[in-house]
Amino acid sequence: MEDLVNLEQFYLKATRHANDPHNLGPLAVFNGHAKITGPCGDTMEFWVHVQDGRIARVSFVTDGCWPSLASGSMTTCLADGKTVEEARELLQEDVLEALDGLPDSHKHCAMLSTNTLRAACDDYLEKKHDGGGKRDRKENV
Ligand code: FES
Repeated sequence: MEDLVNLEQFYLKATRHANDPHNLGPLAVFNGHAKITGPCGDTMEFWVHVQDGRIARVSFVTDGCWPSLASGSMTTCLADGKTVEEARELLQEDVLEALDGLPDSHKHCAMLSTNTLRAACDDYLEKKHDGGGKRDRKENV
């Protein structure tokens, strides 16, 4: 957790999420999943369980930095209860706003997070329509 103590006073909400992430860890029951490695080399993974078109459960893991933990946590909070279409439309800016910002050097972590959520939603939609499989991929964010 690099510089967490020094940054805590500036990024209070983000450091709270990084210290105590919501919805961390794989879902035992899910119908959408994605894993994306960003250009920084960090990987994020999302699981969604969609029921009646809405995100009933959502979770994530990351091997990345503390802002990626904060971003993943906040992304799950924002996605929870939304329709799949609404969850797919969550953007980096939504996560940054909800976290009250991240250091400039780590704003991309929020994009990796929303991109991975979107890919998990797409995996759900593909499986729903043609039984497609999960995604493991590297993506430019
Ligand atoms: Fe790679 Fe944060 S630096 S996800």
